Amino acid sequence: MPDFPITRVRAAFPALQDGYVFFDNAAGAQSPALVLDAVADHLLHRNVQRGGRYRQSQEVDEAIARARTSVALLVNARHDNEISFGMNATSFMRLISIAIGQSLGARREIIVTDLDHEANIAVWLALEREGAKIVWWHFRDDGRLHPEDLEKLLSPRTRIVACTLASNAIGSILDIAEVSKRAHAAGAEVFVDAVHFGPHGTMDVQEFDCDYLVCSGYKIFSPHMGFLWGRLESLNALPTFREEFVPDTAPAKLEIGTYIYENVAGMDAAVRYLEELGRSINPAAASRRAALVTSTEAIRGYEAQLSRAMLQALSHAQATVYGIVDDQNIPLRTPTLCFNLPGISPARVTEQLAAQNLSVRDGHMYSPRLMKRLGLAPESGAVRASLVHYNTLEEVERFGSLLADIKRA
Ligand SMILES: Cc1ncc(COP(=O)(O)O)c(C=O)c1O
Repeated sequence: MPDFPITRVRAAFPALQDGYVFFDNAAGAQSPALVLDAVADHLLHRNVQRGGRYRQSQEVDEAIARARTSVALLVNARHDNEISFGMNATSFMRLISIAIGQSLGARREIIVTDLDHEANIAVWLALEREGAKIVWWHFRDDGRLHPEDLEKLLSPRTRIVACTLASNAIGSILDIAEVSKRAHAAGAEVFVDAVHFGPHGTMDVQEFDCDYLVCSGYKIFSPHMGFLWGRLESLNALPTFREEFVPDTAPAKLEIGTYIYENVAGMDAAVRYLEELGRSINPAAASRRAALVTSTEAIRGYEAQLSRAMLQALSHAQATVYGIVDDQNIPLRTPTLCFNLPGISPARVTEQLAAQNLSVRDGHMYSPRLMKRLGLAPESGAVRASLVHYNTLEEVERFGSLLADIKRA
């Protein structure tokens, strides 16, 4: 396997040029120049509404269509119309959950997990008012959800399983294909929160065989925006709010009002950035999707090195690390590590690192139930360092030596 082109990667991101260390990427990643240029170009040349008969408006329609094709390739959708654009992931979770709540029928049970971001729990809990019954799928002490544990939770009453592809707090990855196999055998659907996993590996909705999947573009190197993928037949069957003149078909029925077109143009460019990275690794990639898979697989391989180095640095600092720590299970995690240093509050660790130009985050990571399961008070929680493919082993080394300084002080 060729070396990961880290120098080329870092050169693509203007925000990385001043030496600041970004280890808070699970809250949003930096954008490459290609993305920034696409946003600026959109605002400069076609900052107008869609659907007009003049050139600039038609260019907006074309830009959105191009972005739909790119994002469809990113997740391996069967059809571009399976992709909808919007403000963020949470609003799509809410939109789909309301539609599911209005069509519960005899299947009234919804399975949610305590590994998830609260967004993908709260939107489903809100359906209890509609008569839904919530069934909890708990992660095991190894910090992972095990699909076989679903067997005793699924029943002919299950409407949907709502679960995360990877934990935004502790990085554990879930085998969605296994979840879908079991859920579909019980006649239930699967709703996947891919927000955290998005920048870390290959997304393939056909292989996952899920029914809905949401992402935040701003975690995948675009500006702030979100997108939804859904099976066309499932989306078209859902009752959604729309004005009378909006067709009852995807994507129009899911894209309510005006959204941030320039950021959608940025998302298109983020996909092209990943594609170009893939082509730099394998110039013979036979298609856009093949180039994307080359890049996301290379990212996974490189990020495993980052995870190993981070675990080593944290072990030297005698930190308690939550979730997957054993070497052979590194492929089951992203380089997102929650930890605590003995006798030092998470807030103090974060402040000290910030003072040295290194960003991490402390608190419950919007997963307070997960924090409670780990025996942590959600108010203080843990420190989270979340890396992506533009971070380096040298930055990890710096992080390790700063932790040693904090412990000494
Ligand atoms: C796993 C996960 N789900 C959902 C969200 C919410 O996403 P958004 O801010 O796009 O609504 C986040 C944000 O950090 C997340 O990490």
